[in-house]
Amino acid sequence: MRVLVAGATGVIGRSLVPLLRARGHRVAALVRDGSAAGGLGADDVVVADALDGDAVRTAVLAARPEVVVHQLSALRDSTVDGLEATARLRTEGTANLVTAARAAGARRIVAQSISFATAPRGGPVLAEDAPLYLDAPDPAWTRTVHAVAELERLVLGTPDLPGAVLRYGTLYGPGTRYAATGSIGSAVAKGKLPLPESAIGVTSFLHVEDAARAAVSAVESEAGGVFNVADDDPAEAATWVPEYAGLLGAPAPRTMPVELVERLWGWFTRYQLTTMRGAANDRARQELGWRPEVPSWRTGLATT
Ligand SMILES: NC(=O)c1ccc[n+]([C@@H]2O[C@H](COP(=O)([O-])OP(=O)(O)OC[C@H]3O[C@@H](n4cnc5c(N)ncnc54)[C@H](OP(=O)(O)O)[C@@H]3O)[C@@H](O)[C@H]2O)c1
Repeated sequence: MRVLVAGATGVIGRSLVPLLRARGHRVAALVRDGSAAGGLGADDVVVADALDGDAVRTAVLAARPEVVVHQLSALRDSTVDGLEATARLRTEGTANLVTAARAAGARRIVAQSISFATAPRGGPVLAEDAPLYLDAPDPAWTRTVHAVAELERLVLGTPDLPGAVLRYGTLYGPGTRYAATGSIGSAVAKGKLPLPESAIGVTSFLHVEDAARAAVSAVESEAGGVFNVADDDPAEAATWVPEYAGLLGAPAPRTMPVELVERLWGWFTRYQLTTMRGAANDRARQELGWRPEVPSWRTGLATT
């Protein structure tokens, strides 16, 4: 098949391009001017800024893909600016890709979303029908969740263009924040990531290679809708933070009051460690035929 990957230079994209080629697909990488596109190994490279609708249309028309894969994010920048840029990629960028895919006659779109945007009600592990956290108390997270909802609406609600949304769990592996040199990996290694007193927030992790493999499955499948893509081992912070520290040979995390965790680390980290719900991957297993090759962060985090 002819497949276009937007975000081909990202941590998932760089794994995805060779996996798709190994399956015999012809891959076009959509990159922006100045992207570090060397070594991608794509069959074709087309250039466009995802926020420039005319440029995206020209690039996608040139590639003539049957399937468009959306792996765009700006989360390498973990500040508020990166979140805002990612929200625009999820809204305007997705709209541009969908319009261009339809113009090019593509028959399917597969897009990256997140599994931890669900409201923290019920659980502790939620399926795809759980509502999104559109009324989160934190403005930055509310903006993120609304942008995720818009991405999913565009991908799943466009006539003539069936879509699959992959709600990835918390990514770890090379190039992510949980890599040994990433912002969270190095904080854990120094014993700086604290444990709140009530560390019952659940994280569903996902190795980046498993994220890429799920995208391959979704490209080759006809199944549509929303799929949680996460490992088999959702874990409370009280479990994963100390185990991760142990794997890194780091000091045990310090326990501190919830309010202090939020003051030092911000709303999202406090939310992740105390309140967040995990994600069940049954639907992706059953309908996409995907399963994680790294089924637990307990082994995966030890090797990143
Ligand atoms: N579920 C999760 O936990 C989750 C989800 C997403 C991301 N993340 C975190 O975010 C980081 C990266 O993951 P990722 O692979 O999703 O993202 P990434 O490595 O930041 O890659 C994003 C891709 O989008 C491209 N891009 C960004 N803005 C663009 C624009 N305006 N026009 C065209 N292309 C644009 C980038 O191109 P350039 O190379 O030109 O920048 C890159 O190819 C990791 O640290 C990961 O942990 C986590």
